[in-house]
Amino acid sequence: MCGIVAYIGPKEAYPVILKGLKRLEYRGYDSSGVALLNAGLKVYKKKGKVAELEESLVGKDLHANAGIGHTRWATHGEPSDRNAHPHMSANGKLAMIHNGIIENYTQLKGELQKKGYTFSSDTDTEVLLKFIEDIQLNNDCGLEEAVRIALKRVTGAYVIVLIDQDNPDTLIAARKGSPLVIGIGKGEHFLASDASPIIEYTKEVVYINDYELAIVRPDELILKNLGNEKITPFVTKLDMELAAIEKGGYEHFMLKEIFEQPHTIFDCLRGRLDAAAGTITMAGVQNNIEQLKNANRIMIVACGTSWHAGLVAEYVIEELCRIPVEVEYASEFRYRNPVIHKGDVIIAVSQSGETADTLVAIEKAKEQGAIIFGVVNVVGSSIARISNAGAYTHAGPEIGVASTKAFTAQLAVLTMIALKIAYEKGTIDNKRFMHLVNELQEIPDKVPAALQTADAVQKLAAKYKDAKDFLYLGRGYNFPVALEGALKLKEISYIHAEGYPAAEMKHGPIALVDESLPVVFVATKDSYHEKIVSNIQEIKARKGKVIAVISEGDDVISKMADDVIVVPAADELVAPMLSVIPLQLLAYYIGVAKGLDVDKPRNLAKSVTVE
Ligand code: AGP
Repeated sequence: MCGIVAYIGPKEAYPVILKGLKRLEYRGYDSSGVALLNAGLKVYKKKGKVAELEESLVGKDLHANAGIGHTRWATHGEPSDRNAHPHMSANGKLAMIHNGIIENYTQLKGELQKKGYTFSSDTDTEVLLKFIEDIQLNNDCGLEEAVRIALKRVTGAYVIVLIDQDNPDTLIAARKGSPLVIGIGKGEHFLASDASPIIEYTKEVVYINDYELAIVRPDELILKNLGNEKITPFVTKLDMELAAIEKGGYEHFMLKEIFEQPHTIFDCLRGRLDAAAGTITMAGVQNNIEQLKNANRIMIVACGTSWHAGLVAEYVIEELCRIPVEVEYASEFRYRNPVIHKGDVIIAVSQSGETADTLVAIEKAKEQGAIIFGVVNVVGSSIARISNAGAYTHAGPEIGVASTKAFTAQLAVLTMIALKIAYEKGTIDNKRFMHLVNELQEIPDKVPAALQTADAVQKLAAKYKDAKDFLYLGRGYNFPVALEGALKLKEISYIHAEGYPAAEMKHGPIALVDESLPVVFVATKDSYHEKIVSNIQEIKARKGKVIAVISEGDDVISKMADDVIVVPAADELVAPMLSVIPLQLLAYYIGVAKGLDVDKPRNLAKSVTVE
């Protein structure tokens, strides 16, 4: 959940690293630091955002051609200057940054303390570094070998990068479970948690795999496994533009990403869905169609917003493919010892592709013979790599911590998968298939109208921003959308909000309703419409304030609700890609109205790489 950046080459390292850390700040931002090699090792670190580190270094001699940098999301040791990275070895000659968790660090710390080592921080990282240092001393070996020996003894997840005063032209890096990408330049190399700090310098990158170690010099990149065998680096060309990372004129990444959805959903369908021809082309699905269509059940494993996309997919897959679906919270699934049969199909949904709970859950399921189908946004990420097959969501880099465009892209991919399986399985007739592929194809053209509700939603945000609680209600396909709306509001505005199936209200939550409680109904036209109308009456009868997201032309609910947000009409199966947009906007505008940092909400990080 931290961001790491490193550089070695002819350029001034500090500005490259600082800029990179700012790009990665969405991964964690409670403290940061750099280590620079310039006639000796200089380490500077500070609690708070990267800007505070930058401020504290004004006037210092920061010249260096090699350096490492880190922006932190605390796991072991509270956010503070002393727990910030980089950490230094006892002899002051090594500095190291780390993203991940060393699970057996207390045991290692005990061993080192017996040898007289002391520790200036509470972190697992400092323990690993001094463990490496101790191996180097006792085995009289080089740093690379010491790292290899040490990593065979640690359990947990890590990306580490070390800089060595005695070997100023070499950085050592290694990875297991956390992401690391290396950018190849002319006589220089860039290391980072993802490509965003690298892209403005080079598009040639190497994604480092688990248990790989990198020896990086200005004009040389050597990859080895922990068995000291050389590995040929697999160079990939990045297909994203810097602008995709920048805010593109929007005040926040979250708003930019909400407004990108007509394009991102289109990009997601492009080259896959052809409504005119009535075809869906997805190699990952086609190559595994027998397992998918003959699956006894499908389990969808995910966290947070991706779990909500999985819940929509449950309704869609069961409806179209007549295959039972279970949607699992990855954090529970990984420890619940679920019953997995050989050949069971697991769909892993993840924007970052690095969420630890989802990653470990599917690793365990794969060991038991399940087939893993990944639905992932970040190309080359861990979940993508360990999946047997998959489909990328092509939503582009999602920088805002609150997931928005990735959610609608996940829905588009999961709906295409369901349609493809149903078509191949013959569980829907051609008329319905053609109707739905056309409905799906039209979504990117309907999203702009949903985005045009922004001004109306902004007014509602001003009206309801001081509410203490919110309820979000929906039925059928709109129930998961209600859950997603509530999650967005919680994440961005820190207002307590709950999503519920609307009919569940009378089994308890309706006791919460009074004139101070805004109740958001996701009530677009569907087979539950009459039912949701009576649910709205139940709330109105108890003076609740009803905000309803309705379909164009719905003149029933528009007369009942206190406030309505109108989105284009669409088949209920694809409507969640429209009805969620006003909810994304409502959370955003309430967050902004409350003066909150909507791109970096408190206590949250974009990619949760530790459990
Ligand atoms: C959503 O806005 C949050 N950022 C969070 O719930 C997120 O969806 C969850 O951590 C899963 O992340 P993933 O999709 O990258 O696996």
